[in-house]
Amino acid sequence: MDHFTTIRLTAERLREDHLADLVALHLDPEVSRYLGGVRSAEKTENYLVANMAHWDQHGFGLWALRTKEGAFAGRAGIRHILVDDIDEIEIFYAFKREFWGQGFASEIAAAMTDIGLLQLALPSLIGVVNVRNGASRRVLERSDYLLERSANSRGEDVVIYRIRR
Ligand SMILES: CC(C)(COP(=O)(O)OP(=O)(O)OC[C@H]1O[C@@H](n2cnc3c(N)ncnc32)[C@H](O)[C@@H]1OP(=O)(O)O)[C@@H](O)C(=O)NCCC(=O)NCCS
Repeated sequence: MDHFTTIRLTAERLREDHLADLVALHLDPEVSRYLGGVRSAEKTENYLVANMAHWDQHGFGLWALRTKEGAFAGRAGIRHILVDDIDEIEIFYAFKREFWGQGFASEIAAAMTDIGLLQLALPSLIGVVNVRNGASRRVLERSDYLLERSANSRGEDVVIYRIRR
């Protein structure tokens, strides 16, 4: 679980030394557009600490993603999320802009869905996406997630997709 590979990506369990890559990723306004806006280095440091704690507590969480050549490409994960006070498990992902439009998110979403449903044997997984984030919605649809409902999360209009085992 700490490490897995897909055809074109390697995923490594989040570590402290991923901080600089994550800070740069979160400082890109296009990347952060539907992620609550650009995050300061301090906010990303808190994010890293929280996501490392998630690993310690649950045995799964956020991975840093690299191309086979070793370049940092983005991040993706499986984590607990409270939706209307219900404990759900979501998949989430973000890539550096230069890697968009090549099927990387679809590749990692499919791999994480298999991990969640088959290895972790979870009954279902969700994706929570800003209603206007067409690319991310498409990624979930391509991974066979079904549109469940609209909701409001932290003041944003979102849609919730779900896949069941
Ligand atoms: C969303 C994101 C992860 C997609 O990554 P990606 O590697 O480019 O995605 P893929 O190439 O696997 O697939 C994107 C799909 O969306 C489609 N697409 C791209 N832009 C779109 C748009 N504006 N509206 C609708 N569909 C769009 C692509 O055509 C592709 O579908 P197709 O394969 O059927 O042609 C990437 O844009 C990103 O990192 N965004 C910033 C972070 C983010 O928003 N994360 C999701 C939070 S829920």
